Amino acid sequence: MIKRPLYAVVALALLTTGTLAQEATPKARTTSPAEEIETLLSRFSDDPDHFTQTDGEALYRTTCQACHMEDGRGAEGAGAHPPLAGNPKMNSKHFVTGVILTGYHGMPRFGDMMTDEQVAAVTNYVRSDFDNDYSDPITPDEVAALRPPEDED
Ligand code: HEC
Repeated sequence: MIKRPLYAVVALALLTTGTLAQEATPKARTTSPAEEIETLLSRFSDDPDHFTQTDGEALYRTTCQACHMEDGRGAEGAGAHPPLAGNPKMNSKHFVTGVILTGYHGMPRFGDMMTDEQVAAVTNYVRSDFDNDYSDPITPDEVAALRPPEDED
């Protein structure tokens, strides 16, 4: 009967290390961008892997607004979410589409979750709303051409 307490000690040691390791991880960011997308999808889409909306504004509201804010003015805090309103980079439809397809530094990629039509719709929405007035919409075919060759999941 001498082994039992030994197991208990080992178990306790493991538990303690686990707890310590958990406490050592920074508290600032508790969810990864991938998890944030999963949460968004589960809240707004009938399909767990893809967004179901096709309307640019609806896609913005459900996908982008959480970070870039309702009025597209972005947010500043622990991590800055740049504004999409009055942002000269919006001048390039290829840039905006590329950001959505492949992600951009701290921004997650949405290429796998949206069709070419959806990416085009949301690109055209953000470039024509929020005081943006670019009159060269991107087409789904152009979006397809911008997708990286290997769109791994
Ligand atoms: C999880 C938060 C998050 C979501 C959701 C998100 N973005 Fe972003 N976005 C960011 C961050 C952070 C950056 C800045 C990246 C950097 O420069 O480090 C960014 C950058 C951008 C930029 C480049 C702006 C610039 O000045 O460089 C565009 C355009 C953009 N996002 C559009 C969108 C669109 C459209 C959507 C919805 C399809 C979207 N974003 C969803 C966080 C997000």
